Amino acid sequence: MAEIETALAQVAAEMAEARDRGSVATYIPQLGKVDPQRFGIAVAMNDGRVFAEGDADEPFSIQSVSKVFTLTLALGKIGDSLWQRVGREPSGNPFNSIVQLEHEHGIPRNPFVNAGAIVVTDVLLAGHQPREAIGEILRFVQFLCDDDSVYIDRSVAASEQATGFRNYALANYMRSFGNLTHAPEMALGVYFHHCAFAMTCRQLALAGRYLANGGRHSGTGHTVISTERARRINALMLTCGHYDGSGEFAFRVGIPGKSGVGGGILAVVPGVASIAVWSPGLNANGNSKLGSLALERLAKVMNWSVF
Ligand code: DON
Repeated sequence: MAEIETALAQVAAEMAEARDRGSVATYIPQLGKVDPQRFGIAVAMNDGRVFAEGDADEPFSIQSVSKVFTLTLALGKIGDSLWQRVGREPSGNPFNSIVQLEHEHGIPRNPFVNAGAIVVTDVLLAGHQPREAIGEILRFVQFLCDDDSVYIDRSVAASEQATGFRNYALANYMRSFGNLTHAPEMALGVYFHHCAFAMTCRQLALAGRYLANGGRHSGTGHTVISTERARRINALMLTCGHYDGSGEFAFRVGIPGKSGVGGGILAVVPGVASIAVWSPGLNANGNSKLGSLALERLAKVMNWSVF
């Protein structure tokens, strides 16, 4: 097996040469301003070692990667009753699609498509003011990565709040089926803010350690969630974490991963490591183009696969 330092350096060097880097998301205007040349990667091994290359210490907008953390919190809050309101099947549709909701009683296919994540956020809002719910999610992520410098990029949240018309449509539509308990603008206010968390690859890889380590925080040994729940979140990341590109990601990379339109991906090698990669240019499915390629290369060289 290759040494991780050598493998990471090789992958980063290959990515630095890449010409076709995909296109930066522009539907959230603030994301369109990010330099597509950036590339960072960090690996947090279960044994405590952390390795990084490229722009691994530059914060970026984690966007949908935050859905892994909100799902973890919502399962902690209401347990498996969550699955009465959100499904566990791949959608085969883009992340912001509305079509399935009409025939499926307003129940989103999974917690990672936007509609599903908005329901998850609605769960976290219960009993809280929006600002308290946002604070709870932020503190949880800061705890996971042992770093309270994780922050909310308010310009990104405001940018999406002003332009997220599809998400307003999704939330209103689900509300009409009774699958949203708060006013759409309240649930979306929280959702836009957790999507706007700014994190570095290093912080994100550290935050994902509990998923690689059977639900335990490998820094402190504290149980974050049960081993069974960590396995199930990993299963959902594998089957749904890249939307209609999930099959391709599983085929090429072979480990669970969750992408965000900011160009970040959190990937998990159960029992071994948590990996975060960032390259802002996206492929046609809205997933980081070079991020996916870097993970494919790294997994191959390191012989990492869940299969
Ligand atoms: O709701 C949205 O459209 C964004 N805040 C998040 C979407 C996202 O990251 C999809 N991931 N590839």
